[in-house]
Amino acid sequence: MDKNGITIRLESEEEYREVELLVRESFWNVYRPGCSEHYVIHVLRDDPAFVKELDFVMRSGERLIGQNMFMKTVIESDDGNNVDVLTMGPICIANDLKRQGYGKILLDYSLEKAAEMGFGAVLFEGNINFYGKSGFDYARKFGIRYHDMPADADQSFFLCRELVTGYLDGVTGVYQTPKGYYVSNDDVEEFDKAFPPKQKLKLPGQIFD
Ligand SMILES: CC(C)(COP(=O)(O)OP(=O)(O)OC[C@H]1O[C@@H](n2cnc3c(N)ncnc32)[C@H](O)[C@@H]1OP(=O)(O)O)[C@@H](O)C(=O)NCCC(=O)NCCS
Repeated sequence: MDKNGITIRLESEEEYREVELLVRESFWNVYRPGCSEHYVIHVLRDDPAFVKELDFVMRSGERLIGQNMFMKTVIESDDGNNVDVLTMGPICIANDLKRQGYGKILLDYSLEKAAEMGFGAVLFEGNINFYGKSGFDYARKFGIRYHDMPADADQSFFLCRELVTGYLDGVTGVYQTPKGYYVSNDDVEEFDKAFPPKQKLKLPGQIFD
C-alpha cells in the first residue's frame, strides 16, 4: 500500500533489527517495567506458525513507523475438532505518532490481506477501544473461551473478528495462544543487552510485574 507518503509492505530480513528497536521503544514500560515484545517478534519470525505473507512494516517516507504480524493457531472446538484461525501481534506505532490514526490504517490493511489469503477469523488479547473500531468484538460473543481460565472469569480482553462471515457459526471451544509467544524473562534480559540501555519503570496501568 502506498498512500499519502505512507507505505505498508512486507518486512525484509535487513530491517529485522530496526523493527525490533521500534517495537522496544513502543512497548517499553507500557504493560510492564521494560518489555518483552522485541524479543517475542525475534523468536516468532522463526516459528513454524508465523505467517510470512502477513508480516508488515509501515513507513512514512523512509522512516519506520509501525509493524504488525500474524501467527496461525487453533480453536480447540468442544466437538473435538481443531478450527484453524489466526492470532495477531505484536502491533505497534512509533511513540510520537500514536493516536493519530496510523494504527488503525495498519490494522485494517493487515486484516484485509489476511482475509484475501482466505483466513476465517482472528483472535487475540487487546483493548476493545482500539480494536472495536476495526470490527472486533468480545470473543465470548462468538462462543470462544480463552485457554487456562475459568469459564466465568472476566475475558473482556479477549477479542475476535471473523474475516469470513459465519466462519465461527456453530463453533464453541477454547482458543490457544501459540507457544512462541511465551518467552522467559532470562532470555528477554539477555536479548535486551544488545540494545541501548533504557530505564525500566513501574507505572500505573501496567498489567504485569
Ligand atoms: C495500540 C496502538 C498500535 C494503536 O495505534 P495508534 O496509531 O496509536 O491508534 P489510532 O490513532 O489508529 O487509534 C484509533 C482509535 O483507537 C482508540 N485507541 C487507540 N489506542 C488506544 C489506547 N491505547 N487506549 C484506548 N483507545 C485507544 C482510540 O479511540 C483511537 O481514536 P482517537 O485517538 O480518535 O480516540 C499504538 O498505540 C501502540 O503502538 N501502542 C503500544 C503498543 C501496544 O499496546 N500494542 C498493542 C498491543 S495489543
